[in-house]
Amino acid sequence: MRLLVTGGAGFIGANFVQQTVLEHPDVTVTVLDALTYAGNRASLDPVAGRVNFVHGDIADLDLVDELVSGVDAVVHFAAESHNDNSLADPWPFVQTNIVGTFSLLQAVRRHEVRFHHVSTDEVYGDLEPDDAAFDETTAYNPSSPYSATKASSDLLVRAWTRSFGVRATISNCSNNYGPYQHVEKFIPRQITNLIGGVRPRLYGAGHQVRDWIHVDDHNRAVWAILERGRIGQTYLIGADGELDNKSVVRMILEAFDLDPDGFDHVTDRAGHDQRYAIDATLLRTELGWTPRYRDFRTGLAATIQWYRDNEPWWRPYKASAERAYAAAGETEINPVL
Ligand code: NAD
Ligand code: DAU
Repeated sequence: MRLLVTGGAGFIGANFVQQTVLEHPDVTVTVLDALTYAGNRASLDPVAGRVNFVHGDIADLDLVDELVSGVDAVVHFAAESHNDNSLADPWPFVQTNIVGTFSLLQAVRRHEVRFHHVSTDEVYGDLEPDDAAFDETTAYNPSSPYSATKASSDLLVRAWTRSFGVRATISNCSNNYGPYQHVEKFIPRQITNLIGGVRPRLYGAGHQVRDWIHVDDHNRAVWAILERGRIGQTYLIGADGELDNKSVVRMILEAFDLDPDGFDHVTDRAGHDQRYAIDATLLRTELGWTPRYRDFRTGLAATIQWYRDNEPWWRPYKASAERAYAAAGETEINPVL
């Protein structure tokens, strides 16, 4: 199989490419990535010489058409992915997540190429503490400019499947953790703060709940869908990993042998989603997928070790990520606990 992977220099995409080279040696991989602030060529160093890399924009219709004409399938990870950035400047999210996905859909339609669209649980909005988890029938209700543009891209995929017969599947996954994640995101931000002797930063009171899954489990689910998923079907991906943010920060501090209360509360995110949770029954029963990382503390410890061992990978990005948070007005607060 010849595979085009968009966003293959980003967090999940780079892990997907590495896993693919290792576990699917018969597959020829081409990566298309614009190398935005979130893309890092070094994330593909472990597979250097074993993948083709194209530096370009998914919204470039001519480039995308040419690349898609030479492959059997596209796995589409490329996106603007950070909620906080979408609050500061939504435009790149509209351009990449909506226009970029449109460009890919036109090409896979023209060349009759299989398409897998990687999306997020955030398209469903958020849950109350006692609500049932999201499943494939949950109504779309996005909260942020990021999640609204991801929801828009999902709807384009559904329309191109129904109206033009594009052979597409969609997956909506919960929060990923693991190696190669940008230091702007919650877990790497706190780990790299602590490596530098800086206290973790918790938004508001830290009661928000996320449903954590290891990136390798996410990517094995993507492979299961690519190989065995039903065309036109959406699959939710999650590993029953619900935790509130404060508990995660305390676990990270404990892993560093520090006082678990040694963090600061900072300005809360505007429109902050309170809880995400995934019911992955369809993926488990129909495609036989199960997560390999069942203990979050163990996966977290390995992730912390990875950031300790790979400071040259993340250090160049740390100061600018922190400057962006400061510019957005992040300050210490005393929340009502
Ligand atoms: P990321 O921000 O780490 O990486 C995004 C990659 O896309 C980068 O390499 C970037 O250079 C590239 N890119 C951005 N704009 C581009 C463009 N116009 N053309 C080509 N390349 C472009 O993101 P991530 O966390 O790896 O997320 C990957 C995908 O998975 C996204 O679609 C995201 O919505 C989805 N997702 C992420 C999570 C998560 O927890 N991180 C969970 C569920 C779904
Ligand atoms: O649910 C899937 C989504 O998960 C993906 O679609 C997104 O691409 C991905 O970024 C992630 O979105 P979140 O907004 O949940 O992730 P983030 O890492 O930004 O934040 C996780 C939680 O931690 C969230 O409740 C905000 C909080 N937070 C975040 C940062 C950066 C903090 O308390 N402190 C922080 O410093």
